[in-house]
Amino acid sequence: MSDTLILRRPDDWHLHLRDGAVLRAVLPETARHFARAIVMPNLVPPVVTGAQAAAYRDRILAALPEGMTFEPLMTLYLTEDTNPEDVASAAASGLVRAVKLYPAGATTNSASGVADFDRVRGVLERMAGIGLHLCVHGEVTDPEIDIFDREAVFIDRVLDPIRRTTPGLRVVMEHITTSGAADYVRAAPADLAATITTHHLVINRNHILVGGIRPHYYCLPVAKRESHRLALLDAALSGDARFFLGTDSAPHVDANKQSACGCAGCFTATNTLSILAEIFEREGALDRLEGFTSRFGAAFYGMAPNDGTLTLTRGDALRLPEKIETEDGPVTVFDPGFPLHWRVTP
Ligand code: NCD
Ligand code: ZN
Repeated sequence: MSDTLILRRPDDWHLHLRDGAVLRAVLPETARHFARAIVMPNLVPPVVTGAQAAAYRDRILAALPEGMTFEPLMTLYLTEDTNPEDVASAAASGLVRAVKLYPAGATTNSASGVADFDRVRGVLERMAGIGLHLCVHGEVTDPEIDIFDREAVFIDRVLDPIRRTTPGLRVVMEHITTSGAADYVRAAPADLAATITTHHLVINRNHILVGGIRPHYYCLPVAKRESHRLALLDAALSGDARFFLGTDSAPHVDANKQSACGCAGCFTATNTLSILAEIFEREGALDRLEGFTSRFGAAFYGMAPNDGTLTLTRGDALRLPEKIETEDGPVTVFDPGFPLHWRVTP
């Protein structure tokens, strides 16, 4: 087996960069490996207008260390008051690449999300007309629905109706966590794709709960049972271009994770590529890694793949930092629970 792999420079199709001190600390972790990323708009307050997205983009670029290159692909946070014209002009200028739908209350900073889906119909129709992608956080928030069923119910109650009533809308179902979601994507026409995170390929719900509660494995959508993890692995390894990497790397400082009401999110930017190489190697599918990390997502978004490459070299177990220091406190890096052997160099 070869111990060197040249990989076209990857993209991250779902990333949380935050703002201020955390942005400054985590941005290099992504920019070191990834050329571009779809940047989530769930700041406080959220990035709702084109003007806010332009200002956030400027703050990201200002936080980028000298000598690093990185292109933030900006998104707008869909609210019931979103103005279709503002969305269209932010897309026409090339600033905004997608609109993000959070059901109200679904996850971190989603209070301004959508409760009444009829009220965003006009925006969705405009997006379909101009070819702007919709990214969805695929969970319902109905308190009656068990947290482990929220993705499945979202597909029936929200996603399928939106897709049927808005023909031509290109949708990314983000961070899928169930076999049902993978099947739904496979059965759909080419206007639907899904991102898969690194951590959902590694952990199931036992990792969160057995032998003590592990706050750094808690994220949303929450990891499901092992059969679902295996279904996601199958989708990621399959070479099917409708499944591609969106890390959902979601930094929270330790004080906010290790708490009686800990925040959802796994921070995987630092070691994502080493973890993925380890998994794809173990499954005998290293030749499929580049499609998942560096080709399929760009194709779905209608962009060219990146020109540059990274080199992954297999060697002794890596010693990666356990935490990233920020001026607001440390952020714990996701621990896959197995040794990593693939070092990433430019
Ligand atoms: C994300 C965050 O922290 O912003 N958390 C998470 O668990 N994934 C929000 C999200 O993408 O749901
Ligand atoms: Zn996310």
